[in-house]
Amino acid sequence: MDDYMLRQRLTHSLFLSSMMRNTNGAYCARCGKGADMVQLGALLVAAPGEYMEVRDKYPHAFLPNAIDEMTERLSSEVKEIRSLLGNVIIGVNAGIFDIQEGVKMVSALTAAGGDILELNVHGGLKPFADIGFFEGMALPEYRERLLLWTKELSYSELPLVIKFHTSSPVDFEKVLEELEPFPVFGYHFNIRNEETKGPDYEFIKRIRPLVKGMLFVSGYIRSPEDIKALWDLGVDSIGVATPILKDENFLWELSKKVM
Ligand SMILES: Cc1cc2nc3c(=O)[nH]c(=O)nc-3n(C[C@H](O)[C@H](O)[C@H](O)COP(=O)(O)O)c2cc1C
Repeated sequence: MDDYMLRQRLTHSLFLSSMMRNTNGAYCARCGKGADMVQLGALLVAAPGEYMEVRDKYPHAFLPNAIDEMTERLSSEVKEIRSLLGNVIIGVNAGIFDIQEGVKMVSALTAAGGDILELNVHGGLKPFADIGFFEGMALPEYRERLLLWTKELSYSELPLVIKFHTSSPVDFEKVLEELEPFPVFGYHFNIRNEETKGPDYEFIKRIRPLVKGMLFVSGYIRSPEDIKALWDLGVDSIGVATPILKDENFLWELSKKVM
């Protein structure tokens, strides 16, 4: 799907936001009715033989290194989704430990029929965030890695979305300015406000004018009123995760109230 078509379909849309250990192909297919996009993952890649402790801990999250095996694995997840949800947009939330493998993942996902790669600069996965992977890549001391990887991935075959958590102790205005030279398709912010237990509207008002590209948000967004308010503030696509763990029809019911 080309970028123009993706933009059209994602404007005022809903998505199933990735939940590691849950959002495989079967889960996305079951719970994604009503969503315009579903996200697989987090799926992880590392150089052969590296990060074995994470591989042991999350065996199903890791993709094989050989490109044909990687493609086969992603194809089977994509097929499972398409068999129930047709041409829904399919993203992969990618936890990357090695950029060559990340680039390979984009090729494999393209061959598998996926649509968007979301670079995970969001999750904790301690201690890796502390050494500049995942959420840690947003930190000033590891920002160079974020910029280099963004450069590699934003010029690859698939549109790139970068996902951040607003609780990261970073100046997002500066981060967005530093990322501006690259053709990033969009940004996903987890806007959970732990004080109000609602979405952080103030953050969105501040950040929207600075985001060049599509704006995806998730975090404590539960009601049709929240969704409409966020669309009105210029958010393009709204993700839901936690409520789906309890009610697999959550997105379908919500979509009927806002579409
Ligand atoms: C069980 C669980 C697993 C998650 N795993 C991931 C993940 O692998 N990658 C990621 O970027 N976000 C992950 N998230 C975050 C969600 O995608 C989403 O951004 C966040 O939960 C806010 O939405 P919510 O309030 O609707 O749950 C996870 C959330 C939950 C509840």
